[in-house]
Amino acid sequence: MSDIAPLKQEPELFNPSAQFVNNANIAGMEGYRAICAAAEEDFEGFWARHARDHISWHKPFTRTLNEEQAPFYRWFEDGELNVSYNCLDRNVANGNAEKTAVIFEADDGQVTQITYAQLHARVCQFANGLRALGIGKGDRVVIYMPMSIEGIAAMQACARIGAVHSVVFAGFSAKSLRERIIDAGAVAVITADEQVRGGKHLPLKSIVDEALDLGGCDTVNNVIVYKRTGAGIDLVPGRDLWLDTLLAEQPTTSEPEWVGAEHPLFILYTSGSTGKPKGVQHACGGYLLWAMLTMKWTFDIKPADVFWCTADIGWITGHTYIAYGPLAAGATQVVFEGVPTWPDAGRFWDMVSKHRTTIFYTAPTAIRALIKACDKDPHLHPKRYDLSSLRLLGSVGEPINPEAWMWYYHNVGNGECPIVDTFWQTETGGHMISPLPGVTPLVPGSCTLPLPGIMAAVVDEAGNELPHGQGGILVFKRPWPSMIRTVWGDPERFKASYFPQELGGKLYLAGDGAVRNEKTGYFSITGRIDDVLNVSGHRMGTMEIESVLVANPRVAEAAVVGKPDDTTGEAICAYVMLKGPRPLGDEAQRIARELRDWVAREISPIAKPKEIRFADNLPKTRSGKVMRRLLRAIAKGEPITQDLSTLEDPAILEQLRQAQ
Ligand code: PRX
Repeated sequence: MSDIAPLKQEPELFNPSAQFVNNANIAGMEGYRAICAAAEEDFEGFWARHARDHISWHKPFTRTLNEEQAPFYRWFEDGELNVSYNCLDRNVANGNAEKTAVIFEADDGQVTQITYAQLHARVCQFANGLRALGIGKGDRVVIYMPMSIEGIAAMQACARIGAVHSVVFAGFSAKSLRERIIDAGAVAVITADEQVRGGKHLPLKSIVDEALDLGGCDTVNNVIVYKRTGAGIDLVPGRDLWLDTLLAEQPTTSEPEWVGAEHPLFILYTSGSTGKPKGVQHACGGYLLWAMLTMKWTFDIKPADVFWCTADIGWITGHTYIAYGPLAAGATQVVFEGVPTWPDAGRFWDMVSKHRTTIFYTAPTAIRALIKACDKDPHLHPKRYDLSSLRLLGSVGEPINPEAWMWYYHNVGNGECPIVDTFWQTETGGHMISPLPGVTPLVPGSCTLPLPGIMAAVVDEAGNELPHGQGGILVFKRPWPSMIRTVWGDPERFKASYFPQELGGKLYLAGDGAVRNEKTGYFSITGRIDDVLNVSGHRMGTMEIESVLVANPRVAEAAVVGKPDDTTGEAICAYVMLKGPRPLGDEAQRIARELRDWVAREISPIAKPKEIRFADNLPKTRSGKVMRRLLRAIAKGEPITQDLSTLEDPAILEQLRQAQ
């Protein structure tokens, strides 16, 4: 905990403009305080009112929160609804039928627009197609798709029939995909022939084939393939079929499956502090409610907005703020297939300008990469594009450093757009701590204050609340509707990971350190307190990478730590002891390359260590524990200040200091 530095200085505040405040869905600190007070005074009444106001219930709920099995909280449990109905049918009926739901821009710049009525018809056909294959309520479906209207339709179609989707980011390897298919017990996989990003084609269907050929995926009956490029692929007879063929004859209406509010909507795998990813399970009613409320509160969404979240549907941000939130809010949104740096690093700004985007939500790592790019080539500077449509900016996924914040604020937002720095997690389902754009004076680098109804605190290792100014552990004191319900198939891991006994068993442990400013009470996130890394906003467990490294026949032992990186936030640094002698010079380079490729193949290219260092041994205490803090200091190039008297073999420190 000594890593967590207190934040004492007086922060510089950026106030929202009077015009923004006047038009905002929640206006002014008074408005915010009133909503927070309503939640404090009558917690259940607060949530019940919002749930009634925002969701179309097939059967109204009578009980708001059931805490009997805490921490397995149940929200609105006797209510019945359908999430896809709330996102699509409701908008079609409410005058949004001809409104554009999605403006899709492909990697090559081709644009396809789809209205709410058309998306509704497409999702109904998709739902009927899935039903025709015998897929129904409670069945798990893995989605391994590129960014596409079809990817969103696949998720919505699952929701429509009560199937539980598990989207696997289409950058994961066959092995990672297989592991998730098996854990979820998926009956079908929906994929595409290829994915196209930055001009490069990635063969998704053949990765699915490889995953299934590795064995153990006996639950999978079908693979449904969206034809993205028309590249030649093999279809296994009786198992595989083209999406177009499946949907061709399907009617464009489809009765939604009405499910209980606690019915699982999806499972999304994320990294934890062990080698095995956790299947974070969300429930229909509470998740939908928070997706809608945060669209309204954090993003101040209005009918005329053009919303653009640059995340991938493979991550939680793409679930809540692409596949569900904007649709439930009846918004028009931009969906992008490609990457921010192709054909050049002006792509985002070009697209904002072209689609007249009003709300732009991206990750600090993208901002930092684009800053570097326009430092090199001033033609790519955002000031050279017409970004006048923007009114609100957002940031997510990792702490945004004040320099990047200021650049974003001045150069993208022209000093006029509030930035919502949204702190949240796969497990929280939606924003937790974030400025409200018409309310909160902003401080670069701070996610400011909890949203109404969210009871955040900073505590010590025994769960006692700490005074402002003192760094500690971020927790949430009360449940909230969009919280994780369980770890799929492992309720004990859910309890131990998120409601640990050490903190009394009642506090939700986010896994991040935080500190509140003494003057403003604002929260600043100081980074993970567990063995989870955040590389380019991607969450990765050190143990996952270590276990893959030691599975390589050359490797005897490995330890992975994070190291600060200007662009990616954190970079992966691996310390490796081979079974043979320690390699030197060219040989070390060659083996390091080989191991990097190995990690890419076994997990994903996003998990590749940036640095691999070899040593005759790893620094261990006499009792055999790897001294991770020491490794972190070495990775950062910091002087070693800690006590080395328990280190078994001090000579290896020099070896570890030598970067390849
Ligand atoms: O460490 C925090 C960081 O990302 C983690 C959650 O990662 P994931 O579940 O992949 O979800 C990312 C998108 C919501 C958190 O535990 N994090 C996320 N947003 C912020 C952040 N750290 C600081 N500031 C943020 N705004």
